Amino acid sequence: MTQGLPPATPDTPQPPLTPLSLGTLLRRIHHEWTTRQRIFDLPSARIWKRETGPDAVDLGFEFLGRPCATPIGPAAGPHSQMAQNIVLAWLGGSRLFELKTVQVLDDLDIARPCIDMQTIGYNIEWSQELTVEQSLEEYTKAWMIIHMLQRWEPLRDHVGADPGPFVFDMSVGYDLAGIKSDKVASFIRSMKDATSEINRLRADIPDEFAKFRDLDIPATISDTITLSTFHGCPPDEIEAITRHLIADHDIHTIVKLNPTLIGLDGVSSIVHDALGYDYIQLKSSAFDEDLHLDRAIALITELNEFAKGHGHRFGIKLTNTLVVNNHKSWMPEDAMYVSGPPLHVLATAVLDKLLGGLAPGTLDVPGSDGEVMVSFSAGVTKGNVADTIAMGANPATVCSDLLKPGGYGRLAPMLKALSTAVAESGSTSLAGFRAVRFAAAKTAGHATTAAAHLAYITGEGASEYHLEDNKKLPRVVDHDLEMWGCVACNFCVTVCPNDAFFKVPTPETLADEVTGRQQYLVLAELCNECGNCMTFCPESGDPAQIKPRLFLDPQRFEGATGQRFLIAPDSGVLAAAGGAEDHATRVDQVLSADEGLPVR
Ligand SMILES: Cc1cc2nc3c(=O)[nH]c(=O)nc-3n(C[C@H](O)[C@H](O)[C@H](O)COP(=O)(O)O)c2cc1C
Ligand code: SF4
Ligand code: SF4
Repeated sequence: MTQGLPPATPDTPQPPLTPLSLGTLLRRIHHEWTTRQRIFDLPSARIWKRETGPDAVDLGFEFLGRPCATPIGPAAGPHSQMAQNIVLAWLGGSRLFELKTVQVLDDLDIARPCIDMQTIGYNIEWSQELTVEQSLEEYTKAWMIIHMLQRWEPLRDHVGADPGPFVFDMSVGYDLAGIKSDKVASFIRSMKDATSEINRLRADIPDEFAKFRDLDIPATISDTITLSTFHGCPPDEIEAITRHLIADHDIHTIVKLNPTLIGLDGVSSIVHDALGYDYIQLKSSAFDEDLHLDRAIALITELNEFAKGHGHRFGIKLTNTLVVNNHKSWMPEDAMYVSGPPLHVLATAVLDKLLGGLAPGTLDVPGSDGEVMVSFSAGVTKGNVADTIAMGANPATVCSDLLKPGGYGRLAPMLKALSTAVAESGSTSLAGFRAVRFAAAKTAGHATTAAAHLAYITGEGASEYHLEDNKKLPRVVDHDLEMWGCVACNFCVTVCPNDAFFKVPTPETLADEVTGRQQYLVLAELCNECGNCMTFCPESGDPAQIKPRLFLDPQRFEGATGQRFLIAPDSGVLAAAGGAEDHATRVDQVLSADEGLPVR
């Protein structure tokens, strides 16, 4: 067992995620807002409101020519897979959404648990879990819901009269043959023109949102792609896929690069020597197989010319996660992928190296002022988001930080920190802010803002990224988790990327039977057993298995094992199984209380 983590339960059968319908999601939004001023468990205080007025800071930027009201959003990963996740990210203030990677192999079993955010960030979640068809529907549902919520009167005071433009960016992988397959090609075409998908789903808009049934919703959900190249993807393949996407799909394209670009010695000197993670075991084979710096420099230059020749924009994303040996063995794979604080330093070093190698005027960052957009995704937090944007990141996307307690609620404070930094620089725009920070970097003797940030995070500001500041384990209490009652920290609700957990105040009728003022329940069809709530629960045990597991779908209920309840929004508990039978009355009472079941 890994220190601080309860034993994983790898033998549990794989539960496929079962998305909720558009009608259910919208009814849930309405019911939660009416009964508890929350949407998908995000409290109104965590909803981001766009500043307006003459002195307001404008956090807008252009993503490959498309206007976007803020420069942050979820990175391709667990926060951009299901419709409710994307809506949650929008409520938090995200305006750029890098959608979960879609690939031709869409019926794979992902080993579980697959996320370990106990300290820095590790995962083995290397593929999508929904089918490509389901992904298209999830992205369309999210697109439609956000367009409705932008105009929904009850939210007006919380999101502002004009919440600002937003962009969905597709992510596809992982090889040319798969991307050329009919399945993926048709996905890309449907995202570029989703008229039929949107019209099909309109019929599912419930009465609560009836006035939006004929809303004019743009048919192009996305016409940009961030190419997710897997570890070891050959350079020729990266080049061929990019050319294919630009030329055959008429798509603006960003290529995700690996931190291995700075070489084994470069990575080791940062991860081991500068940051002290001596237990991280680098895989030397990854450095041989991945794209090398000289080839990357040639490729960026060539692909930018190719994109321009086709009237398109080209960009790079820094960076993919770092592949290492799995020394913890909590997740059941030989290799795992590092994200979070150390990756932030590595990705900044990659940017610095590229700026040194590329011709001046190639990258679109301060000090270079070229055309190739730099999307940055590596350990971005409230503490470093302003420095990241100052480097020229357009956008800064986030994954690991949103998997920590607070979840999507961490986005609005991040935007607040950014807008405060912009205002303190005496500017009201990101361009003005960057100009001020670039001038300061030059005065301090650095060629670029990225070089200044790298010097800071490997020098006097290194502690935030160093092992010493990132080894504290989540709090534990000496108590075995039970179905009813717990320390009620709410972590299982906020760390779940899928919003599978919800809490309900304990009804008075149960006050003498169970402990605690709040009870926690899990919508089992939204849980993919990623393990994240188990990591953060201070009590001993897996909340996703121990708290009452509710199913809406009779077939999923029948096919599952372990304690479980079949429920219907209007009728409460229909059946219980797997040892849960004695608890059915209690679950019924909880679900029929005033707040009750959020799903309608
Ligand atoms: C659980 C998990 C799943 C991820 N899934 C994907 C994915 O499907 N496609 C992809 O390109 N990157 C994926 N990533 C990588 C993220 O997009 C991001 O680049 C990386 O985590 C670094 O950002 P962070 O330090 O903020 O986590 C995933 C990361 C995590 C932690
Ligand atoms: S309930 Fe827990 S295990 Fe299930 S998806 Fe959410 S965080 Fe992961
Ligand atoms: S189940 Fe665990 S994580 Fe969830 S509220 Fe209770 S103590 Fe906190």
